[in-house]
Amino acid sequence: MKRLSLLWRYIKWFWQAKTKYQIHSPFVFTFIKDILEDKRTYYAFKYIEKLRKLVLSDARKVQVNDFGAGSYIEKQKERKVSGIAKTSLTSPLFCRMLFKMVNSYQSRNILEMGTSLGISTLYLAHAGKKGQVNTMEGCPNITNLAQENFDRLETTNIKVITGEFDKTLPSFLDKTEPLDFVFIDGNHRYEPTIRYYEWCLKKSHENTIFVFDDIYWSDEMVQAWEAIKEHPSSLLTIDLFFMGIVFLRKEQKIKEHFKLVPASWKPWVLGFLSN
Ligand SMILES: C[S@@+](CC[C@H](N)C(=O)[O-])C[C@H]1O[C@@H](n2cnc3c(N)ncnc32)[C@H](O)[C@@H]1O
Repeated sequence: MKRLSLLWRYIKWFWQAKTKYQIHSPFVFTFIKDILEDKRTYYAFKYIEKLRKLVLSDARKVQVNDFGAGSYIEKQKERKVSGIAKTSLTSPLFCRMLFKMVNSYQSRNILEMGTSLGISTLYLAHAGKKGQVNTMEGCPNITNLAQENFDRLETTNIKVITGEFDKTLPSFLDKTEPLDFVFIDGNHRYEPTIRYYEWCLKKSHENTIFVFDDIYWSDEMVQAWEAIKEHPSSLLTIDLFFMGIVFLRKEQKIKEHFKLVPASWKPWVLGFLSN
């Protein structure tokens, strides 16, 4: 049932999504050119994807705190590393987009909420080697696995913060410099998602970028994404279905919201009909 409603959401989204040929905003056009449709590959991609393959076949078993979609630990479960990798990780396509965003917008102080095995963390860290990635994860055994992966790629610009977000986020925000890039990929429910956004906004500046994962994953996340778009600070949003991106750009005179799809994904006839 959940899969069916996700498919239906995707069809509706796809119908409404625009390609570069239907966009007039120069800022968004540059986003499409440099992030969405950019075909460049970087050395780091190869190494991180090798590591992804490795964790996808890792038969070790670990005890994990099951946060479900919630903020409290429901129970401890034994899971295979490969199983965690199959269900939790951001896809290579979207990891590459995270990399290119950090690289293009030169984000330095990066926060990731939801480390899991550290695959997206590695993309963020290798894109901004002059920067620092602060990544948060609630389960200590998962953090150990992520750290193993950071060591395998000799990546030193990552700081892992272990603990439940409600506890670790306020104390991190108290101490940190203003944030350049925030990737929220854990605890996919309405209330905490909005709360994390509000909290992080207090440590933002006019060029801070927020990325929310899985914005159509559930009714709660659809509602959360709508509320984020409505928020007075969200002046420009880009909806890529699997991710929602918020730019705070103060120079933006009016709020604008875009649903975007690469031109090659959308047969021209669909684009023509949805105009
Ligand atoms: C979708 S996974 C992150 C995937 C990772 N960003 C990637 O793409 O490689 C979400 C992670 O957030 C953690 N998590 C969920 N809710 C949490 C909470 N309330 N506090 C701390 N960690 C939480 C889970 O344990 C899980 O490992």
